[in-house]
Amino acid sequence: MFETLKADLRRNLQDYRPTGLFRTVALCLTLNSAHAVILLRFQLWCARHRLPTFVPAKILFWFFKIEVSKHAAIGPGLRLPHPMGIIIAPGTVIGRNCDLYADVRMVLSHGNPKGPVVGDHVFLGDGAKIVGRVAVGDHAVIGVSSVVTKDVPACATAVGVPAKVINPQNGRNLESD
Ligand SMILES: CC(C)(COP(=O)(O)OP(=O)(O)OC[C@H]1O[C@@H](n2cnc3c(N)ncnc32)[C@H](O)[C@@H]1OP(=O)(O)O)[C@@H](O)C(=O)NCCC(=O)NCCS
Repeated sequence: MFETLKADLRRNLQDYRPTGLFRTVALCLTLNSAHAVILLRFQLWCARHRLPTFVPAKILFWFFKIEVSKHAAIGPGLRLPHPMGIIIAPGTVIGRNCDLYADVRMVLSHGNPKGPVVGDHVFLGDGAKIVGRVAVGDHAVIGVSSVVTKDVPACATAVGVPAKVINPQNGRNLESD
């Protein structure tokens, strides 16, 4: 858990470029993103160890209106710049170094008990929704308020309702993350 959490905190703090231990600790104590990922990781850790998840799940919900299924798998480096209103359904898989903005929803479709599969380094803009067991490829970008109902290829940018690919090669895979 600690290696994963370290990777999460590193990505959530990266924009603030903290120098030194004191500033890093101060940021961890004050930054909403840090609080949200700590609670989320604690919840998933409890679930993995068959401990009750009630306390971290309730605190996440009360303070951030975030609901994450204990049956979701989330890779390290999760970044939540505005941790609010995020919902992650059971069976959802999220790769490493993904960015989830406010009100991102990954929900089940009727008749399928498993949520979406999201690759590594995926950017999900404010209010993006992914519906059902669809796959979003590595380095994909999903635009603000878009609703993904079909697979999105790696490195593509998709927008709209339902989301359509507007750029098959967004160049995010060329950036260092
Ligand atoms: C998806 C996104 C990255 C696309 O950026 P881009 O590649 O620069 O694309 P453009 O802005 O040139 O838009 C291209 C087309 O897609 C449309 N478009 C862009 N974003 C859209 C969206 N979210 N929904 C619907 N259409 C969208 C534009 O209107 C434009 O249409 P046109 O060609 O008919 O004029 C960007 O729109 C976006 O949503 N970024 C995320 C922002 C975000 O979540 N920020 C959170 C920080 S607070």
